[in-house]
Amino acid sequence: MNFKRRTHTCGELKINNVGETVVLNGWVDRRRDLGGVIFIGLRDRYGITQVIFEPEHNSEAHLLGKQLRNEFVIAVEGKVSKRPEDQINKNMITGEIDVIVDSVVILNEAETPPFAVKDNTDAFEDLRLKYRYLDLRRPKLQKNILLRHKMYQLVRKYFDENNFVEIETPFLMKSTPEGARDYLVPSRLHKGKFYALPQSPQTYKQLLMVAGFDRYFQIVKCFRDEDLRADRQPEFTQIDVEMSFIEKENVFEVVEELMKNLFKEIWDIELSLPIPMLSFDEAMEKYGSDKPDLRFDLELKTLNDVFKNSEFKVFKDIIDNAGIVTAIAAPGCADYSRNQIDKLTAFVKKYGAKGLVWLKLTDGEINSPVAKFLSDDEKQNLVEKTNAENGDLILILAGSRLKTLEQMGALRLEMANRLELIKPDAEPKLLWVTDFPLFEWDEETKRFYAMHHPFTSPRLEDIDLLDKEPGKVKARAYDLVLNGNEIAGGSIRIHNAELQAKMFKALGISKEEAETKFGFLMTAFKYGAPPHGGIAFGFDRMVMLFAGETSIRDTIAFPKTTSALSLMDNSPSEVSEEQLKELHIKIEVN
Ligand code: AMO
Ligand code: AMP
Repeated sequence: MNFKRRTHTCGELKINNVGETVVLNGWVDRRRDLGGVIFIGLRDRYGITQVIFEPEHNSEAHLLGKQLRNEFVIAVEGKVSKRPEDQINKNMITGEIDVIVDSVVILNEAETPPFAVKDNTDAFEDLRLKYRYLDLRRPKLQKNILLRHKMYQLVRKYFDENNFVEIETPFLMKSTPEGARDYLVPSRLHKGKFYALPQSPQTYKQLLMVAGFDRYFQIVKCFRDEDLRADRQPEFTQIDVEMSFIEKENVFEVVEELMKNLFKEIWDIELSLPIPMLSFDEAMEKYGSDKPDLRFDLELKTLNDVFKNSEFKVFKDIIDNAGIVTAIAAPGCADYSRNQIDKLTAFVKKYGAKGLVWLKLTDGEINSPVAKFLSDDEKQNLVEKTNAENGDLILILAGSRLKTLEQMGALRLEMANRLELIKPDAEPKLLWVTDFPLFEWDEETKRFYAMHHPFTSPRLEDIDLLDKEPGKVKARAYDLVLNGNEIAGGSIRIHNAELQAKMFKALGISKEEAETKFGFLMTAFKYGAPPHGGIAFGFDRMVMLFAGETSIRDTIAFPKTTSALSLMDNSPSEVSEEQLKELHIKIEVN
C-alpha cells in the first residue's frame, strides 16, 4: 500500500497554508455527496478538516471518494484552498480552508458503527461502553481524556517541585480497613490464602513515613467493592499524599497551592486563598450536608428556639427528645400548587422524613395547614429566623438531628435544581470541612465504626472522651469539597501505640484482632514513627468537575457500569476448571 504519512494533523491547517500540497491521515467523520462533489470531514485527535473530491479535478480520486463511509481510515493528498467567504466556519480551527483531493488511499474500511461517533449521540450508555473505543473517538471524550492527561502532568510537576517523592506501593497486599469490601486475589502458591487489592495505600504510606521519606505522593489505583453511584467506580484513582512532622494546617497549605495551580491552569481562575472552612457540625446545620454546595445560599435555619414551648406537638416532642426543627425559605415559591407541594413531601419521605410542614408567606399572611397550631409570636419568629419574604414558601422538617438535617440538605439541593439556583457560569466553590466525628454509630450491628479509618487521630482535647462518650469525640480529619462533591479526604494520624490501642478498644477490636489485622503497622510504630498525616484526592471526580461533566465514567478511558461490569470485555467472567483447581477454589452456586 503506498501509504503517505501525514504532513499535518486534521486540526492544523489555516489560511496561511493555502496553496500548499499536504497529506492528511484520519477517519471519515461525515460524508456529503452532492451528486458531483463529495465533501468529507476528516477527523483525528486534533480536529476535523474538510476535504473535497471533485470529479473534474481528479476522476480517479473521486471514484474512490464515492466508496468512503463513516469511520473509514484514509490518507489524502491535496492542495489547501481558501473557502468561499460564505462557507467560512469561525468555530473550527480549520474552518477557513478545504483540501482539494489529488489522491486518496483507503487504509482501512470500517463496518457501520453501532452508533454515530458524534458528541450529541443518542446512543444508550451501555452500547457506548460496549464499543468504548468508538465512544472514545467522540471529541468530547477525547477532550476529557486529554484534560485528565494534563492534570496528571500538573499534579506530578507540583508535587515534584515541592519535594514530594513518588513511590509505588503494592497492589497485592493484606486486606486494609477503609470501610468498603475488599477485592480478593487467591494465592496459587499459598493454598487457601488471599491477597487483597488496596482500597487505598493508607498503611503503606504511613510505613513510608516511618521509613523517613517525609513527603510522599502517588497517583494510584484503588479498589473498593462497594455499592456504586454516579460518582463512584470499583477501581478509581487517587492522588495520595502523606507528610511527616506536620499539623493539619501544613496539609491544607500544600493542597490549597495545588488547587490554586489547577484553577489557574485549567480554568484560568485566580483562586483566592485560604479556602473557607466549616466544621462538620456547622456544615450539617447550615447546609444539611458534609459536602455542601456553596454555589448558592438557601441556608437551613434551626428553629428549636422558636418552637421549644410550642402547642404544636409534632415539633415540641421532637425538641424535647433532643431532635431538631430545621427550615428553608424557598424564594418565590408561595404560589406552589398542592400537587407541587405533594411532590416535595414525597421527595423528603423517600429520604425517610415523616412529613413536611409548609407555610406560604403572602402579603404578610401565613397560609399553612399548621397555622392554627402556631401562636402569633411563633409565626413572627419563624419568619424572622428564616429570613422569609413575601412570596416565599417556608419548608420545615423535624426529627432526630443528623437524619433530619440530611433530609433537609437533600431538599435544599432539590429546590436549587427546581429553581435553577446554580447558574451555568457560577464560580466554582471550594470548602474545607473539618472536625468530623471520629466514630459513626451503626444501628444494625450496634457498634461504632471509624468514620474515616482507624488510624485517624482524635482531637487531642477529646482523648479523655474515648472510653466515656465515643460518640462525642471529634477527629483530626478533613475533607475538601468542590461544588458539593467530596474531592479529597484525609487526617492527622495516630502515631503512638498507646493511643492506637485505645482507638481499637473503642472500636470493639480485640487485641488479637488488632494484632492479626494491623500487627505489621503497630510493630513499625514501635521503631520511631514521626508525627504524620495526609490526604487523598479522588482524581476521577476532580477531572469530572474540571471537565464540567456529571459522571466520572466520562473521564475514565475504560470505566465499569454501576453494577461493576466491563461491557467491552465482559468481565467479570467465568474461568476454566483448571485455573480454579490451581487456585484451590471450588465454586458453589446457591
Ligand atoms: P477516602 O476513602 O476519603 O480516603 O478516599 C479519598 C477520595 O477518593 C475518592 N473516592 C472515590 N472516587 C471514585 N470512586 C470511588 N469508589 C471512591 N471512593 C473514594 C473521593 C474521596 O474523597 N486513605 C484515605 C485518605 C487519607 O486518609 O489520606 C482515603 O482513601 O473523592
Ligand atoms: P400529623 O400530626 O402527623 O398529622 O402531622 C401534621 C403535619 O406535620 C403534617 O403536615 C405532616 O406532614 C407534618 N409532619 C409530621 N411529622 C413531621 C416531621 N417529623 N417533620 C416535619 N413535618 C412533619
